[in-house]
Amino acid sequence: NSMCISAVSVVLFLFILWMLVVQLCRLTDRQSDGDAKATAVPKLLHSLSKRFSRTLSPSLSGPPSLPLLGNMLDVAQEHLPIHLTSLARRYGNIYRLNCGNTTMVILNNSEIIREALIKKWSDFAGRPHSYTGDLVSSGGRTISLGDFSEEWKAHRRVAHSALLRCTRDSLHSVVEKQAHHLCQVLWDYNGKSVDLSEDFTVAASNVITTLTFGKSYDKSSVDLKKLQDSLNKIVSLWGSPWISVLDSFPLLRKLPNPPFSRLMKEIARRDELIGKHIEEFKVRMNGQMMQTLTDTHVHMTTVDLLIGGTETTSALLNWTVAFLLHRPEVQNKVYEELCGVLDVRYPQYSDRHRLPYLCALINEMLRLRPVAPLAVPHRAIRNSSIAGHFIPKNTIIIPNLYGAHHDPEVWDDPYSFKPERFLEGGGGSLRALIPFGGGARLCLGEAVAKMEMFLFTAYLLRDFQFLPASKEEPLPDLRGVASVVLKVKPYTVIAHPREQ
Ligand code: HEM
Ligand SMILES: *[C@@H]1O[C@H](CO)[C@@H](O)[C@H](O)[C@H]1NC(C)=O
Ligand SMILES: *[C@@H]1O[C@H](CO)[C@@H](O)[C@H](O)[C@H]1NC(C)=O
Ligand SMILES: *[C@@H]1O[C@H](CO)[C@@H](O)[C@H](O)[C@H]1NC(C)=O
Ligand SMILES: *[C@@H]1O[C@H](CO)[C@@H](O)[C@H](O)[C@H]1NC(C)=O
Repeated sequence: NSMCISAVSVVLFLFILWMLVVQLCRLTDRQSDGDAKATAVPKLLHSLSKRFSRTLSPSLSGPPSLPLLGNMLDVAQEHLPIHLTSLARRYGNIYRLNCGNTTMVILNNSEIIREALIKKWSDFAGRPHSYTGDLVSSGGRTISLGDFSEEWKAHRRVAHSALLRCTRDSLHSVVEKQAHHLCQVLWDYNGKSVDLSEDFTVAASNVITTLTFGKSYDKSSVDLKKLQDSLNKIVSLWGSPWISVLDSFPLLRKLPNPPFSRLMKEIARRDELIGKHIEEFKVRMNGQMMQTLTDTHVHMTTVDLLIGGTETTSALLNWTVAFLLHRPEVQNKVYEELCGVLDVRYPQYSDRHRLPYLCALINEMLRLRPVAPLAVPHRAIRNSSIAGHFIPKNTIIIPNLYGAHHDPEVWDDPYSFKPERFLEGGGGSLRALIPFGGGARLCLGEAVAKMEMFLFTAYLLRDFQFLPASKEEPLPDLRGVASVVLKVKPYTVIAHPREQ
């Protein structure tokens, strides 16, 4: 018993040390500002570690890994997609990081990502198991976090066909209604400078709740607020180092951990809220989505669609407005195209082939700010290879979509915002554009997201011109904050109605 206690205190000590180092790195990182992520502390640690480092995967290079911590310092970097991309400059388009007893392999280029996710989909369709992931997903029973299995395949197939049926039958009118509503809300602001993120979130989440519960909510709705609140808290708590450390150091699970208790409480609250909505929905039975799913899976599918479909779409709309504030001429071009092609009518999704500039704008946004910049980690379910390197079973694969979308080999001037690159002859490669991943784990909501992006952007730019809140305030910062979803830093904007 006393041995157990001393083991716990050793681990606790190491944990505190680790947290300190992580904080220190973050601090020095902030001071050094900009893209130059090679900071003094990690460099020192890296050079110290060289003498201890063991190479787990001799065929793949990567930054030297520390004893016990491995490359966890790299993984704890603030803007992980940018950090991983800068590591690729040193270690190549495929390299490894060690994390505890698992090896992670980072893919930085779209051909390599396509090889792993599409060509060899059956080798890499797994998801890593983790202690906290299992808790969040009721033992891996969501589509997004569930590992590859017969049960998962059936679950995904049913959800996919239900979603396809909805997309065909009613999605257009559902999205149209939310787009109209969103424009109405913006009209009512009367040219005041406002923060639109909440309105975007409400619009995106109403599309999903209409499909799943047959119900949409007002911005002031307490039910909606509770649900969004709970999902946001779960996502951000789950991403915090206090929680993720539990995956690598099981002994720490025995210690009191306030963020962890909050996470468990939120999970219970989420399940209660969603359970209530589903019950209500069963009574009314006029939603279209769930009729073919079994009870056991309805609940977690709802979580999947709400989490996957709300923050992503609203973050992308938010990015679009942020970039357009920097580039007013792009707004005008979209507006002129809409007026020229449609006259006064609102667009339909079927008009997209006649609106190439609008589509180019959406593609450019998906390229520059893929809102799921590192997709979701995959796991090798058998021995395989990528780009000629041996990849043993259980390796974690991280597709760096952000890196692939900034690859100078594929994109001219990859860091600049140029919708024209996606016009005919503009040189943009639709093949290399992979914001939704691919293969067995392709984003389940791709079709939904594309229609939402098209209609929301078209409606907004037809009715409004977006202007900076004031001349003094700086334009929005375009670097963003990367957690699970890549987001813009807070800013406000004026939606000025267009003369019709
Ligand atoms: C702009 C919007 C969106 C983007 C950029 C996006 C991107 C992604 C990406 C990169 C993945 C991971 C693929 C992988 O593991 O390789 C993913 C998974 C997923 N997305 Fe989306 N997504 C978007 C919108 C949506 C919407 C609207 C929904 C729901 C209606 C949705 C539901 C899902 C689900 C359920 C998964 C898990 C799929 C699986 O593991 O099999 N997403 N998404
Ligand atoms: C890593 O260690 C955990 C226990 O900490 C164990 O459950 C897991 O199977 C190990 N993974 C591999 C790939 O060896
Ligand atoms: C997978 O590779 C490992 C070497 O890392 C080897 O020991 C094992 O036998 C291989 N398994 C199969 C099924 O080929
Ligand atoms: C990885 O991607 C980044 C950005 O896309 C690029 O600058 C770098 O050259 C790539 N790495 C290699 C080895 O090509
Ligand atoms: C975009 O999102 C951030 C929060 O993530 C918010 O503060 C900002 O105001 C949003 N911008 C717009 C135009 O909604």
